[in-house]
Amino acid sequence: MVLGEAERTSRRKIEHIEIVLNKPVEGPQTTWFEYVFLPTRALPKVDPEKISTAVNFLGKTMGAPLIIEAMTGGAPGTELINRSLAEVACQLDIGMGLGSQRAALESRELAHTYRVARDVCPDLVLLGNIGIAELIKYGVSVLESLTSIVEVDGIAVHLNYFQEVVQPEGALGFSRGLEAISKAVDVSPVPIIVKEVGFGISKEFAEELYSIGVKYVDIAGAGGTNWALVELYRAASAGNIIKQNIADGIKEVGIPTAASIAEVRNVSDELFIIGSGGIRTPYDAVKALRLGANIVGMARPVLLAYSRNTLREFLEAFILGFKAILASLGVITVSDIVKSPVVVVGLLKEWLDLRGIKIH
Ligand SMILES: Cc1cc2nc3c(=O)[nH]c(=O)nc-3n(C[C@H](O)[C@H](O)[C@H](O)COP(=O)(O)O)c2cc1C
Repeated sequence: MVLGEAERTSRRKIEHIEIVLNKPVEGPQTTWFEYVFLPTRALPKVDPEKISTAVNFLGKTMGAPLIIEAMTGGAPGTELINRSLAEVACQLDIGMGLGSQRAALESRELAHTYRVARDVCPDLVLLGNIGIAELIKYGVSVLESLTSIVEVDGIAVHLNYFQEVVQPEGALGFSRGLEAISKAVDVSPVPIIVKEVGFGISKEFAEELYSIGVKYVDIAGAGGTNWALVELYRAASAGNIIKQNIADGIKEVGIPTAASIAEVRNVSDELFIIGSGGIRTPYDAVKALRLGANIVGMARPVLLAYSRNTLREFLEAFILGFKAILASLGVITVSDIVKSPVVVVGLLKEWLDLRGIKIH
C-alpha cells in the first residue's frame, strides 16, 4: 500500500508512541544530575504547605514550574491522550505542549486531535509545536496556520537533527534553520520557543539564538528519551539496515541535561530556560532549577503514567515531592532555589571547568 504524506505522518506518530511505551529507549548517556547534590536541612524551618511553587510563563501564572512536554496529536485516537493530559494539567495548574502539528497542516481533519486540549481547559498554558524542517519548507506563514488550528500561548520549534538523520523518511536542509528561526521570532503572533528533543543545546548555539532575539529555550538534553534509539527500532522493523546502523552509531551523541542547562544559563539571565530531557524525579527538577532552568518538562514518564491510568497520581506526587525538597532547603518560592548551596562533582564539574562555566 502506498501512503500519502498525511497518512505517513499520522502512522509515524502511532509508531513513536508504541516504541516509547514498549522499548528501552533511554540511555546510554545519563542526565548527569547524579553529579549534583543539594545539602538539605534535616529539620526544615518551613512546612511544605507554606511553599509557593507559582511561576509566570508566557504571560500566565502556573501553580508549579512544570510542563508536560510535546508528545502527541495528529493521528486518530491521539485526541484521547491530549484530552487526558490537558485535563490533568488543568487540575494541577501546570503547562502542556502539543506534539508536532505537522499532521494537521497536511490534513485539517486531524485539527481536533490538538484543539481538544484547549477545549477542555481554556486557561491552560498551551504550546504549539512544529519541526524546523516544516518551518523551512512552509515558511513563516505556517505560524499563523498553527495558531488557527488551536489557540496557543507560544510555539515550540523543535530541532530534531539527529532524529531526522536516522529516520527512514528524514528531512535535510537544516543549514537554513537559523535564518528560518530568526524570521519566525520577528513575525510570530506568539513567542517562539526553540526546543531540542533529547540532544541538548550548547552555550555557543544558545548565544546564536539569543543574538537573533530568541527568549525561550527548551534545552531537552541527553539522558532521557533517546530519539536515535526510538528511530533505531523503527528502522529495524522496516528492515532498513543502513539507518539502523547509523542510529546505533550516534546513540551516544548529545549534551547531558544538567550540563546543557548550566551552559545555556551562562549565556544570559534573560533567557527563559525549560529544563527537560530525563527529568524523572522531583529531586531532578529541583536540581535543574538550581542549575538555572526556570521550569522543567517531562515527556516519557507522563506517557507511561497515562498508559497505566495513574497520570494524576504521578504528577500530584511529583509536585508534593518537589515542595518537600524545597522545604528542606529552606526555600519558600521557586525563584529562591538559586540561592541554595549546591555541590557539583565528577564529570559535570570537569565539564563546567573546561567550558569556563560558573554556577551562580
Ligand atoms: C511519544 C513522544 C512523542 C514526542 N513527540 C514530539 C513532538 O512531536 N515534538 C517535539 O518537539 N518533541 C516531541 N517529543 C520529545 C519530547 O517533547 C521531549 O523533548 C523528549 O522526549 C525528552 O523528554 P523526556 O526524556 O522526559 O521524554 C516526543 C516525546 C515522546 C516521548
